[in-house]
Amino acid sequence: MKSLEKMVIYQIYPKSFQDSNDDGIGDIRGIIQHIDYFVELGIDMIWMNPIFVSPQKDNGYDITHYTKIDPIFGTMEDLEELIEKLEIHDIGLMFDMVFNHSSTTHPWFQQALAGNKKYEDFYIIRPPKDSGDLPTNWASKFGGPAWAPFGDSGKYYLHLYDPSQADLNWRNENMRNELYDIVDFWMDKGIKGFRFDVLNVIGKDEILVDSTGSIDQEKSLYTDTPVVHDYIREMNRKTFGHREITTVGEMSSTNIQNSIEYTKKENDQLDMIFSFHHLKVDYKDGDKWTLMDFDFLKLKEILFQWQLGMEKGNGWMALFWNNHDQPRSNHRFGDTKNYPYEVATMLAHCLHMMRGTPYIYQGEEFGMVGPHFKTITDYRDVESKNAYERLIKDHRHEEAMAIIAAKSRDDSRTPMQWDHGEKYYGFSKEKPWIMPADDGISLKRDRKNKNSIFQFYKDLIAIRKSEPIIQSGKIKPILVDHPRIFGYIRSNGEDEIIVLNNFYPEPVEIQWDLPSDEKIIGNGPLKKLTDTICLEPYECGSWKI
Ligand code: NOJ
Repeated sequence: MKSLEKMVIYQIYPKSFQDSNDDGIGDIRGIIQHIDYFVELGIDMIWMNPIFVSPQKDNGYDITHYTKIDPIFGTMEDLEELIEKLEIHDIGLMFDMVFNHSSTTHPWFQQALAGNKKYEDFYIIRPPKDSGDLPTNWASKFGGPAWAPFGDSGKYYLHLYDPSQADLNWRNENMRNELYDIVDFWMDKGIKGFRFDVLNVIGKDEILVDSTGSIDQEKSLYTDTPVVHDYIREMNRKTFGHREITTVGEMSSTNIQNSIEYTKKENDQLDMIFSFHHLKVDYKDGDKWTLMDFDFLKLKEILFQWQLGMEKGNGWMALFWNNHDQPRSNHRFGDTKNYPYEVATMLAHCLHMMRGTPYIYQGEEFGMVGPHFKTITDYRDVESKNAYERLIKDHRHEEAMAIIAAKSRDDSRTPMQWDHGEKYYGFSKEKPWIMPADDGISLKRDRKNKNSIFQFYKDLIAIRKSEPIIQSGKIKPILVDHPRIFGYIRSNGEDEIIVLNNFYPEPVEIQWDLPSDEKIIGNGPLKKLTDTICLEPYECGSWKI
């Protein structure tokens, strides 16, 4: 297996990557068309969002059949061909396992509804309180209560997400074994990695209690419960632990201590985790659906705490700015209108030089920004539509849409912009399931630029592979209180690399004596005076010192 330190993983959102059969939806054969692209970029593994049979209420995170490919994405033969062709280039395929919940269309849920007690115990079903109220006062993460009526039984089933996503009962060993069989099934097909969706919320108690009203306290009732570690260890030992498989757990609202436990080698749980605290620095009073400039010092503080904490505890983390649940980070953290190249490359540089395994989300490698649609009907995401319904109660339409445009998950879910000269950017010949941005950005255009973002990503990936300090060196934050510079030093005892990033559109001067001029990578000229460095807007660079 490739070492985690050297790996770079590329995330494909299959619905929006490449449509090969002109139905407006991306598919597996479309991905096969671009294998040379992945090889050129230099990535080691592709994480694909779920492509299993699903009613697509939450874009595939609502699964009806865990071992069948949804015909909208192709066939099992297509998948086998993809795995085979990637293998030729030593690129693994990582699947997305959604094991906290299934769709309510899943046969298990349907059988439960039909009165089959075995399957009723696959889910979390509870009677109302004596008062007639819902079993607990918990909220769904997509808005509204977390309980929905279980047929006409008078009971309720738990859904931490959409009502069409019923939470599975991990306390039931038979249910867990069914899930482990699914992991085995995909490993036998040649899948080389698994990303486990919201894995740290699987451990619900038998007796569920009301929260006191605060959202953090409520989450603590079902997040990172001690039993989650037992379940993951069991899954590891019964499934992927015996093979060369890369694993990453998506951890909702987790903390450093738990993340160390999830990823320490000797714990036999996972290789790495995704945590999200650094992407909440533009939530006003903790509310995502607000407009706020990002808090730079907070961003640094959080990333440094995680870098140092995970290093100290021998944990390992996934490094990412973007994914299918996040608005694109370039316009979130920078001025992409005036500095598209500088912002995209500076953010990538800041992240890829850290300790962890970097993930690239499709399109970020050539600077895609979101679509900023003007009407809610252009959006597809269930969470965004629910948010709009709430926002419109006390905002004007334009205000509500400005918030949706800044925060919607659809910001990153629009079609890949391969070629600005083609209709729908070469993604499809037919109208896509969601429209692309109308901004003319494309891979083709970027490749022609003297300053190509794509080329910068290729260089960053190559540096990680050749530079042991980046792979496994220690990290030391510098200039921690500086209001504009994100700086740190990576070192392995003998050599050191200094990493500097100007997060703002104004030039910055800092007092720093760079003893050597050995620049490893950078996106600008770097003006160096005797003991002063001047960084241009959004300039970044790394030097051996
Ligand atoms: C996290 C996934 O990334 C997101 O897209 C999904 O809506 C929720 N989990 C629920 O499965």
